Amino acid sequence: MTDATHHPEGDDRPVLTTRQGHPVHDNQNQRTVGARGPATLENYQFLEKISHFDRERIPERVVHARGAVAFGYFEATGQWGDEPIARYTRAKLFAEAGKRTDLAIRFSTVIGGRDSSEAARDPRGFAVKFYTEDGNWDLVGNNLGVFFIRDAIKFPDVIHSLKPDPVTFRQEPARIFDFMSQTPESMHMLVNLFSPRGIPANYRTQQGFGVNTYKWVNAEGVTHLVKYHWIPTAGVESLTEADAAVIQGGDLGHASKDLYEAIERGEYPEWELRVQLMSDDEHPELDFDPLDDTKVWPENEFPPKTVGKMVLNRNVSNFFAENEQLSFGTGVLVDGLDFSDDKMLVGRTFSYSDTQRYRVGPNYLQLPVNQAKNADVRTNQRDGQMTYHVDGAGENPHVNYEPSITGGLREADYPTKDEQGPDLVGRLTRARLPRTNDYTQAGQRYQLMEQWEKDDLVGNLVTLISEAIPEVQQRMVWHFLLCDDELGARVGEGLGITADDVRDLPPLASQTLNEEELDRLANLG
Ligand code: HEM
Repeated sequence: MTDATHHPEGDDRPVLTTRQGHPVHDNQNQRTVGARGPATLENYQFLEKISHFDRERIPERVVHARGAVAFGYFEATGQWGDEPIARYTRAKLFAEAGKRTDLAIRFSTVIGGRDSSEAARDPRGFAVKFYTEDGNWDLVGNNLGVFFIRDAIKFPDVIHSLKPDPVTFRQEPARIFDFMSQTPESMHMLVNLFSPRGIPANYRTQQGFGVNTYKWVNAEGVTHLVKYHWIPTAGVESLTEADAAVIQGGDLGHASKDLYEAIERGEYPEWELRVQLMSDDEHPELDFDPLDDTKVWPENEFPPKTVGKMVLNRNVSNFFAENEQLSFGTGVLVDGLDFSDDKMLVGRTFSYSDTQRYRVGPNYLQLPVNQAKNADVRTNQRDGQMTYHVDGAGENPHVNYEPSITGGLREADYPTKDEQGPDLVGRLTRARLPRTNDYTQAGQRYQLMEQWEKDDLVGNLVTLISEAIPEVQQRMVWHFLLCDDELGARVGEGLGITADDVRDLPPLASQTLNEEELDRLANLG
């Protein structure tokens, strides 16, 4: 005699089973000797349930742990004006006006853990997976258009400085500005991040950018450098520190909620995709390097051109399957799109699939949300933990190798005769990009802000930098004076530091100032 529930006649709801397909007759009581125990070890149903529960979590993303996912489509314009986009890229998703490609997008914050506040001052991740007929394309970007560093070897350092202190487990401004004060290339990002743009109002009203420089390749193998911009049709909205404090006082997940509810209401968020193109060379005429992700490309010289729009019209049906396990990477490109030599991009391209093999498992690409669902997948990769199915194979299931003349897979033909790309000659070295120019664009960004944005930026910087040691405070004022006189003077005023106090600081050992910067230094303030 057990206490199992007995359901009334005619209850035709589906019956609970174990994963082995056994019906569960009692989900309230484990098997025990007598009503008061002890429990027995052959209690398969109970052990299965608890041991699966014990394994419900996988490691959260090392960065961008908190995020929201939606699905939708990309619709191409096929041309700008009279000019076909196919002149610049042979990527099929851009080729015809009206052509639609399925996509998944994940918006995220960067530094906090999986349950952290979505009103934090933090860059926002903006990662799009296009399920094209030629396989998947991932465009993994952010909302600010630039980044803190330009060489992937510094990524663990910049993230450690922004993550919680390893002793107190608090995000400490003193640590952040200790690192940034020694990293002049971060100034452009800091001017963005500590302005209102650093706290987008929600995920629907923010821009997105590819940030790194990629290449487009046309049918003749001609390449162009390209940068991507996503522009929300709903406009851009940001929060001040005070607005954000109120929102996160009531809800840590307001942005996920806003996105989910808008899609449920049928108000489908939209973004235009625009690209900037440059011929594929070093562009010595520019005062920055086109492969430097701390720089934007001036829009008057490189006008953005619209190549399509994205519409989000479906929410996830399960958070874990479609958000936690969703895996993006900068190496995931299709024919017609290529890498540039951007030193961040190559580092990122290693890092994403490396972490996903650890975080999700070696067969993460067999999961439905990561599969190239609109292309044929046929590989000779087999086995490993959690193999979900055998990938598509040739006619002969015994052949899981290549080459073979007994029914295996063959290599695809190249779309053009040769691989595209420049001839490169150079000495193996470790060197900075020659045109660092770390201050001009940061200063211009400040000059373009409205007065309230300038005030908010200065207020935020003063509050946080004041927690750092005096040497760090002085160096930050020195950097901001080199960006823009007014910005440096105002941050200095807030910290009680004048141009005279920092005039004699030597440049950092890690930087080489150009002539214009040396001139500004000589006349600081
Ligand atoms: C996520 C590494 C720079 C945007 C991640 C993850 C890693 C990583 C390991 C976690 C991925 C996962 O667990 O699935 C790096 C490295 C970088 C770098 C090594 C520099 C060398 C950047 C930059 C951007 C960016 C410059 C913006 C343009 C993102 C986004 C995600 C992410 C959007 C979240 C993807 C998602 O939603 O799953 N990055 N990252 N990262 N990164 Fe980066």
